[in-house]
Amino acid sequence: MNQLLKKYPEEIKRILAKYPTEQKQAAVMPLLHLAQGEIGFVSRTAMQEIAEITGVTTTEVASVVGFYTLFHDAPEGKIRLQVCTDVACDLRGAKEYLANLCQQLDAKPGETSMDGFITIEEVKCLAACDRAPLFQSQIGNELEYHENQTPTRTMDWLRSMSAALNGTPLRSSASIEEAPATKSTDGGGNE
Ligand code: FES
Repeated sequence: MNQLLKKYPEEIKRILAKYPTEQKQAAVMPLLHLAQGEIGFVSRTAMQEIAEITGVTTTEVASVVGFYTLFHDAPEGKIRLQVCTDVACDLRGAKEYLANLCQQLDAKPGETSMDGFITIEEVKCLAACDRAPLFQSQIGNELEYHENQTPTRTMDWLRSMSAALNGTPLRSSASIEEAPATKSTDGGGNE
């Protein structure tokens, strides 16, 4: 029995109704979103079930998951911190900013902090190039942009999120000095 269909019959019906029957494959992305919302990643079983619903192969569904940084095929930290280091952001200090965060979290890009709370990732353009350094946070299916960041500002946000979600302080290397975060003179942000 397709568990996704069993759990979300109405939602899936609504999603499929948006597309012509012969283009059911267009529903792969919203179905991935639905599946991921439950446990924070898309399991292999969920991919098979989505393939079944949309009439594509599991490999095709897996390739969509692999292509988009918003979809994940394995459980990671409660918070995903996705830092853009593409060219325009790099010119505004994004790589130094990312390196500083990785040092403080004691995790490389693609890894999860030792407390299992934060997964830090390096991603391509997030379409806010003039407001770097920036990161996108993903908590479940909730996405938020955090622009004009410094490592201190980001770590403060992570500490407050850690307290709110976990009730425990975030483990980080308090002794590490903050590196220059950006080559830009812009201040502030619009979190
Ligand atoms: S290059 Fe980083 S947001 Fe565009």
